[in-house]
Amino acid sequence: MYRLRRFLFTRVSDFATWLFHRVFYAYGDYKGTWMNTTWMGTRIYKSPFDMWVYQEILFEKRPDLVIETGTAFGGSALYLAHLMDILNHGEIVTIDVVANPVPVHPRITYINGSSTDQAIVDLVKGRCENKSVMVILDSEHTMRHVLDELTVYSQVVTPNQYLIVEDTNINGHPVHKRFGPGPWEAVQGFRAEHSQFQIDKSREKFLMSFNPGGFLLKSTE
Ligand SMILES: C[S@@+](CC[C@H](N)C(=O)[O-])C[C@H]1O[C@@H](n2cnc3c(N)ncnc32)[C@H](O)[C@@H]1O
Repeated sequence: MYRLRRFLFTRVSDFATWLFHRVFYAYGDYKGTWMNTTWMGTRIYKSPFDMWVYQEILFEKRPDLVIETGTAFGGSALYLAHLMDILNHGEIVTIDVVANPVPVHPRITYINGSSTDQAIVDLVKGRCENKSVMVILDSEHTMRHVLDELTVYSQVVTPNQYLIVEDTNINGHPVHKRFGPGPWEAVQGFRAEHSQFQIDKSREKFLMSFNPGGFLLKSTE
């Protein structure tokens, strides 16, 4: 009886999570809430649950440097910079092909260009020397581009730091069913050849994450 109740409870929870994710992301009155979310007045394309997880990761891992691909309006960079202000540690380099108006903050360096452009990769690698480095991939979400980014930026992530692949939820995981192969599929391909990176499901503890299977922790070996 206990096992049956547990089984049913798990099924109902999974369904409720799936439904909440879909409603939050794309349905009814709340359609696009994630695109209409701000941090200190600047638009940020994240779920508050994931933002809280970022806070926990920064507190625990205290990277010297966070590399972010995909700046958009700078909301995520500003959020991380403010967390770093509280921790009194860290800086951010964020890259985008589009130069939107962005907030100025002493911990943020904005780079304009493609994340996979060799000149930009070289520039970023130079900034990583002798630092503990965490990476967030949040630019173009096609599988090809994310795989290219994974190949390059996984090299700069230091042991015991995270490589976070954003928006693995698209292409039906569980939203945007018709997107086509994206970040989720890129992670599957990447992980097949990079056992040093382990998916940390504990970072999905708030049940709904835009990055299911996307919190990759680099092992210390
Ligand atoms: C999902 S948004 C980033 C959201 C932002 N990180 C946030 O949380 O608020 C994706 C951004 O990636 C940028 N982008 C697209 N292709 C890119 C590329 N090849 N290199 C760098 N940025 C790119 C787009 O211009 C867009 O601003």
